Amino acid sequence: MLREVTATRYVKPLTTGGSVPGIVEADDLGTYVVKFTGSAQGRKALVAEVIVGELARALGLRFPELVLVHFDPALAAHEPHQEVRALLDASHGLNLGMDWLPGAKDFTPEIAETCRVDPVEAGRIVWLDALTTNVDRTVHSSNLLVWPTFGTAPPRLWLIDHGAALIFHHRWDGADPEKAYDFRHHALGRYAPDVRAADAELAPRVTRELLHEVTARVPDAWLAGEPGFATPDAVREAYVGHLAARVRASAAWLPTDFPTRQELAAEEARRAARTRQGRPDWLKRVPDLHGKPAAEQDWSVHLG
Ligand SMILES: Nc1ncnc2c1ncn2[C@@H]1O[C@H](COP(=O)(O)OP(=O)(O)OP(=O)(O)O)[C@@H](O)[C@H]1O
Ligand SMILES: [Mg+2]
Repeated sequence: MLREVTATRYVKPLTTGGSVPGIVEADDLGTYVVKFTGSAQGRKALVAEVIVGELARALGLRFPELVLVHFDPALAAHEPHQEVRALLDASHGLNLGMDWLPGAKDFTPEIAETCRVDPVEAGRIVWLDALTTNVDRTVHSSNLLVWPTFGTAPPRLWLIDHGAALIFHHRWDGADPEKAYDFRHHALGRYAPDVRAADAELAPRVTRELLHEVTARVPDAWLAGEPGFATPDAVREAYVGHLAARVRASAAWLPTDFPTRQELAAEEARRAARTRQGRPDWLKRVPDLHGKPAAEQDWSVHLG
């Protein structure tokens, strides 16, 4: 089971998140990003957060601690926004907290310039996303944090937000372990992710035993009442069965044809040359931003 804490202070809503998570302090003196059961994304998003996040941790990827947070909406009596109040009022009881990483920055194309992404690590992350059909780790919404951003320790990538993974649980009867993974807009696509090495290393580690361990961490209350299943354990068994079958079928879904670093560099150079060619002479002396301000860079063009 995940550690349980009780919220002592509702600090503020995180309006950058679509599900409007909250920053919450708890009785263990920790600060957490809390995803609420009353959000529009529903309980299944929390189930996916637990299963995929705990799987990531078990496979050695960096993922902040998850806790179960007992929350009383009375703590947020000062919250002025009616919609946020409604969300909190609907979330009395158990919710999901993630350890807050102070000063962490979202992994955007600009922030990516400040840290080194290792192709082996990128491969592991893409592999996990493909296994768990995570559709929300794109260049536009990376759900990766860079932390720490101060002090002497090197900044590293941390995974967050797996609420949009395990999409098969929205239609169990159509769950296909061989379903291909659309990786074209993956946030790490331009880092030559070594997914074959990741498959060789990680697939043997995703055993039924490990899947039982991670699914056991989901509270019964978030699994109860799933149509077609008699008990929470029956739902857990369905996750275990599907993911175990998908691991065995990795040849069918393993994304392989990422552009290499050389291909990406060559494409970049071609674009730069085309841009320069179309410029008047005086503009050829201006620093080369390929005709675009850096802030508008968009990797998707490299990914096809
Ligand atoms: N543990 C954390 N530490 C620091 N910042 C965080 C943490 N978790 C989330 N954040 C910040 O909050 C933002 C929203 O979080 P998250 O993506 O988990 O929410 P969400 O509601 O699922 O968002 P969306 O559905 O829009 O992707 C992140 O992009 C990040 O900037
Ligand atoms: Mg997010």
